[in-house]
Amino acid sequence: MKAKEVFVAASIISLMIIGVVYIFWKPMLWSLVLIGPMILMGISDLTQKKHSIKRNFPLVGRMRYLLEDFRPEIMQYFVETDTEGAPINRIYRSLIYQRAKNTNDTTPFGTKYDVYESGYECMVHSIYPKHVKDLDHDPRILVGGPDCKKPYSASILNVSAMSFGSLSQNAILALNKGAKLGNFAHNTGEGGISPYHLEPGGDLIWQVGTGYFGCRDENGNFNPETFAQQSQLENVKMIEIKLSQGAKPGHGGILPAAKNTKEIAEIRHVEPFQDVLSPPYHTAFKDSKGLMKFIKQLRELSGGKPIGFKLCIGEKSEFYDICQAMIKTGIKPDFITVDGGEGGTGAAPVEFSNSMGMPLRDGLAFVSDTLKEFQLKQDIKIIASGKIFTSFHLARTLALGADLCNCARAMMMALGCIQALECNTNTCPVGVATQDKRLMKGLDVGNKSVRVASFHKNTVHSFVDLLAATGLTSADQLQRKHILHRVGPNKMVPYSELYPDFQA
Ligand SMILES: Cc1cc2nc3c(=O)[nH]c(=O)nc-3n(C[C@H](O)[C@H](O)[C@H](O)COP(=O)(O)O)c2cc1C
Repeated sequence: MKAKEVFVAASIISLMIIGVVYIFWKPMLWSLVLIGPMILMGISDLTQKKHSIKRNFPLVGRMRYLLEDFRPEIMQYFVETDTEGAPINRIYRSLIYQRAKNTNDTTPFGTKYDVYESGYECMVHSIYPKHVKDLDHDPRILVGGPDCKKPYSASILNVSAMSFGSLSQNAILALNKGAKLGNFAHNTGEGGISPYHLEPGGDLIWQVGTGYFGCRDENGNFNPETFAQQSQLENVKMIEIKLSQGAKPGHGGILPAAKNTKEIAEIRHVEPFQDVLSPPYHTAFKDSKGLMKFIKQLRELSGGKPIGFKLCIGEKSEFYDICQAMIKTGIKPDFITVDGGEGGTGAAPVEFSNSMGMPLRDGLAFVSDTLKEFQLKQDIKIIASGKIFTSFHLARTLALGADLCNCARAMMMALGCIQALECNTNTCPVGVATQDKRLMKGLDVGNKSVRVASFHKNTVHSFVDLLAATGLTSADQLQRKHILHRVGPNKMVPYSELYPDFQA
């Protein structure tokens, strides 16, 4: 029996006991003073739509909010353990919630960081700042090189790849509706395009992984016919070939058996209720020239939509080889998504998440510099992802060389994720990363889609605010010199020194 049923049963049983005892002992009625409000609170939890945890766990879910209220006082004794052992620390988490809920996102009392500790970073402001109201509040980037017939005007912040399978139906619906409300793009992840990606009408980036879900034949190989059909859907604005992701580079995708429902298996054309392990490599090509030909094939089959690939940098020479293949074949992708080793995942082997793949800043600087070295950058946009939670993260990533950014876990937080760290067990208590219908009911699509859109809007607004303080008027003016990084107690260096710009 689940929490909701337990609450309803407990309420009925308590009322019945009170009723029976009341017949023999009238003072029993007084117990209603205690039980009555609890039942009313539980009913209000079950019927409200704002808090998934209260909807899924009436009364008990309130404990979380109670403890959260006490936390600022308790936490002052534990400031050293601020990260709480979770991937997204308390400062970022609170900020994401505030921005998603459209509440006051200012903070009292100054910085919460030790600014003399190595690793501290800040932006270089100007004594001649611009006024934020004079800047464009929805900076957009046109993705599409010379061979692209349908370039896409993208927001600088978008939803990173997370499949239907890793996320619930309601989470996908809310993300896509949020993307529609806020005019940004939603990456499908490698699990294919589901009806929940299409229904709200938000812009999609269709990701094609090594499992070719949604465009595979009976042997699991790429199927051009089904690809052509799906890619020409109006909602699909760009197509991304997944070579690797930061959380498990060199490893195929993992969908645990518990989350592989009949519906998901049908969409992916696999057997239900079994682990779905995508192969670590593609079968549609086997080298860099093959990858270029595949890009050309997808471009033609899709009617000229932007085609790109996603990777986490590992062996650098392999990326040089890809650039050489672009020059030799004359075929270029329209975008490259660089994911950092610190990126999130629904399920991955621990060592892959912790110790495999180049972190974002190093990988991104390398990709940006290499594209410039090969004189390819002017035709190829760079999308970057990996722990982008705040507008400063956005700014430093663009300063390093990205044109636009994706975020996954920040969007999950906007959906109400509480970092229960149960994405791989199908028991996500807030209905974000589960296929359990009872749990996903707690996630109200209407409410959470507005939160996703608000998180996006407020983060982009805050980014424009930072830009104005730096004295700049557009995102493409950001340079590595605008970000300082502390390397020791008495030394801060600009990114331009840590990651020297490519000099032609
Ligand atoms: C629940 C979840 C599912 C994911 N599924 C995919 C996927 O299907 N394909 C993919 O390329 N990356 C996937 N990722 C990785 C993200 O798209 C992205 O590369 C990375 O999470 C960015 O890091 P962030 O979470 O720090 O924003 C997933 C991440 C999460 C958290």
